[in-house]
Amino acid sequence: MINKVPSNKLKLPAKANPTLIDQFGRAVDYIRLSITDRCDFRCVYCMAEEMTFLPRNEVLSLEECARLVKVFVSLGVSKVRITGGEPLVRKNALWLFETIGKLDELKELVLTTNGSQLEKQAQDLKNAGVKRINISVDSLNATRFKKITRTGELDKVLRGIQAAKLAGFESIKLNTVIMRGVNDDEILSLVDFAIAQAIDISFIEEMPLGEVDHTRASTFYSNADALKTLQSKYPLIASTETTGGPARYWRVANQEGKTNTKIGFISPHSHNFCESCNRVRITCKGELYLCLGQEDKVDLMPLLRNHPENDQPLIDAILASMAIKPKGHDFDLKRAQPAVIRFMSHTGG
Ligand code: 5AD
Ligand code: SF4
Repeated sequence: MINKVPSNKLKLPAKANPTLIDQFGRAVDYIRLSITDRCDFRCVYCMAEEMTFLPRNEVLSLEECARLVKVFVSLGVSKVRITGGEPLVRKNALWLFETIGKLDELKELVLTTNGSQLEKQAQDLKNAGVKRINISVDSLNATRFKKITRTGELDKVLRGIQAAKLAGFESIKLNTVIMRGVNDDEILSLVDFAIAQAIDISFIEEMPLGEVDHTRASTFYSNADALKTLQSKYPLIASTETTGGPARYWRVANQEGKTNTKIGFISPHSHNFCESCNRVRITCKGELYLCLGQEDKVDLMPLLRNHPENDQPLIDAILASMAIKPKGHDFDLKRAQPAVIRFMSHTGG
């Protein structure tokens, strides 16, 4: 167990603005917090084969993560997604889930994971208050899974999915990055799997984040094509559900006696979701990024460390950051350099 933080540091600030509203009138009520840049996988679209990770003291402590979440929740944030890297490889990550899981005003505590640790941790996470989890699975073929993740074991992840089902989360969703010539022939079998498991699935277009070992344009596979493939086999009903992000959802019709599997398409290249953007991201270094595809950020770590007993400077910086949240992102596959040099594992998915 890590040391308990003295309770005076965790008190909610007395005076707080109930909502974060940016310069375009968008309310920010959702944060995605990366708690580590480390991962036990090296997915080809996410990392280079050799990665240098941040030294411990440059990464937020779990206490600092908890403090940040509390401050954001006091400012009206009601949904928190914990990401990484792989959040569950961080030692004592469960302490963080348990701590923020107790915040009354936090309506949704959710997690993005590669599933490798779920077999051991799913039940504890559920008990801590995690409502929903996203598990990254790009292939159901063990050899190919290994090729894509470089170090991952499909079997372990499949056992993790079963453990998550047993733990009883409100929903479990697979996240799949489709890459042309790599796994685009598995679109149907992945959806078949999701239907059989009574879980959901989202297809994500590869984003140009960080330098990897291939050019993104060569493997780009559009969600429009994935949708066409799926419509050739399944009757799909467009759903009005939205999370305020770049995902559009469909439901598989005619699944008698079953919850209809939800199929999402996350298209970061399309611009039309930016106007409803309700989220900001915090890296494991405490950088508050106002948009996944832009460089606008505020460094929160110095405010945390220079004012260990006083949340006001932190609150002021978060409130002020709303004035620099950009209107939209700027991904372009044709560009030689990635628009954004940082890796997803750094910013959080
Ligand atoms: N493009 C698209 N998705 C990515 N992910 C990681 N890097 C990228 C990228 N460059 C995905 C992972 C995981 C989620 C957090 O983000 O597969 O499902
Ligand atoms: Fe790890 Fe997720 Fe990146 Fe794969 S995509 S290397 S699982 S952080």
